[in-house]
Amino acid sequence: MSSLNQIRSTFIDFFKGRDHLVIPSAPLVPQNDPTLMFVNAGMVPFKNYFTGAETPPAPRAVSVQKCVRAGGKHNDLDNVGYTGRHQTFFEMLGNFSFGDYFKEGAIELAWELMTKDIGLDPARLMVTIAPDDDDAAALWRKIAGLPDSRIVRLEENFWSMGDTGPCGTNTEIFYDHGDHVAGGPPGSPDEDGDRFVEIWNLVFMRWEQFADGTRKDLPKPQIDTGMGLERITTVLQGVHSNYDTDLFRTLIAASEEATGAAARGEARFSHQVIVDHLRSTSFLIADGVSPSNEGRGYVLRRIMRRAMRHAHMLGAAEPLMHRLVPTLVSEMGEAYPELRRAEATISETLRQEEERFRRTLGRGMSLLEEATAGLAEGGELPGETAFKLYDTYGFPLDLTQDAVRAMGLSVDLAGFDAAMKRQKDQAREAWTGSGQVAASGEWFALRERLGPTEFVGHDTTETTAKVLALVEAGAEIPRAEAGQT
Ligand code: SER
Repeated sequence: MSSLNQIRSTFIDFFKGRDHLVIPSAPLVPQNDPTLMFVNAGMVPFKNYFTGAETPPAPRAVSVQKCVRAGGKHNDLDNVGYTGRHQTFFEMLGNFSFGDYFKEGAIELAWELMTKDIGLDPARLMVTIAPDDDDAAALWRKIAGLPDSRIVRLEENFWSMGDTGPCGTNTEIFYDHGDHVAGGPPGSPDEDGDRFVEIWNLVFMRWEQFADGTRKDLPKPQIDTGMGLERITTVLQGVHSNYDTDLFRTLIAASEEATGAAARGEARFSHQVIVDHLRSTSFLIADGVSPSNEGRGYVLRRIMRRAMRHAHMLGAAEPLMHRLVPTLVSEMGEAYPELRRAEATISETLRQEEERFRRTLGRGMSLLEEATAGLAEGGELPGETAFKLYDTYGFPLDLTQDAVRAMGLSVDLAGFDAAMKRQKDQAREAWTGSGQVAASGEWFALRERLGPTEFVGHDTTETTAKVLALVEAGAEIPRAEAGQT
C-alpha cells in the first residue's frame, strides 16, 4: 500500500517524466493577489501566467500546492472534523499547461496516470463534463473508452477561482467504491453518499472573469488540474475518510497519546478537528502568519482556538497543540522544509496562544453551559450571549457555533450582530460625550484597523502586550520619544 508521501512523489515523477517543470509549493499567503486571503487552489500562484500578465517559466508545469480553505469563496471550516472529506489545510496535486496541450493532452495524461502508474481499475472510474462540452465527451470515449452512461453532463461543471480571475468549464473524474457503500453517481439525488467520490478536477481555462461580470478570452486555452492528495490517498488505501489514511492515523495516535483520550465516539470528531487544525495552523505560522485580531491573523486565531476547545473537551489539562508539532514535522518536514525551519516558532506560538486562551476558556464554557441548559434541541443561543463569549472570553463566533452545534443548537446571528453594533455605537457615544470629538474618529479607525483589545483583567493584573499604534492629541503619530506624554 502506498503511503501519502509516496503518492505525492508518484504524481510529481509522472509529470516530470513528461516534460513538466516541477514548481515548489508557493507560500499560503498569496504573493500575487491581494484580494485572496490564502492560496486555496494549485493554480493560484500561476494566475498571471494564465491571464498572460507574466511569462511562465515553462509551457508545462507540475506542483503540489499547500492550500487553506477557511474563509472566502472556498470555505470548508464549518464541516471540518465532522465529515471525512473536509479539511482546512490540504495539498493539491496539479499539472498545468500554459498554452501548450489542451483538452486532449489533459485527458490523456490523467487517464494514463490514473489507470497505469496509480493503478486504479478503469471500470471504477466515471466522469462529469459541462452540458455542451461535446469535445470532452468525444475525448473520454476515444481515450478512455468510456460509454456515454459514464459521462455525466452537469451544469455545475464550471470552475472559477473567485469573483475574478481565470475560469472555464471542467471535467471531473470520480471513483466508485462499489455498491456495498451507500450513495449515487454525480448528479443523482444521493450523490452526497460515500460511494462515488470526486478525485480529480481538470479545468479547461478559457476566460478571465472581471469584477463587473464581463469575461475576456485568455490569450490561449490552458489547463489547470487539481487533485486533493488526501482524497486520492483514501481511494488508494481503501478507506472512506481522509482521517483513516496513514498520515492522519499517525497524527491522531499522537493526539490520543497526549490527551489520554481514545479516538472513539464523539471524541473521534475532536481528534479530527485537532489534527486538521494542527496542520493548517502550523503551515500558516511557518509561512509567517501570527495570531491577531484582524485579517489573516484572526483566521489563524479562530482555527487555533477551535482546536483548543476540542483539546479542552478531551480533558487535556495542559496546552496540547504544541506537543503534536514534532509528529507533524517528522511526517511532513521532508516534503516541506519550511516546517522544519519554523518548528520552534510554531511550537512557541501554539503554546502561548493556548495558555492565553485557557485563561478564559473554562469560564466561557461554564457560561455557555448555563446559557444552553434550558434550550431544547433546535433552539438558538441568544446573540447577546455569543457576543459576550466573543468580547469577554475570546470565543470567535464560529467556535461558539461549533460548540452549540454538538448540542443540536444554533446561534442567533442577527442578535449577535445587533450586540456587536450596540457596543460599537455605545463606545462611539461615550467618546462623543467626552468632548473629544476629534479623537473619537481616530480611535474607531484604529479599532477597525487593528481589532479590539482582549480584556484579561479578570485573571491577572500583569500581562505582556504589543503596542500597535501611538496616538497623541487625538491623532496617530509614527513614533514617540522617551518622556513624551
Ligand atoms: N482549480 C481547480 C480546483 O481547485 C483545479 O485545480 O479544483
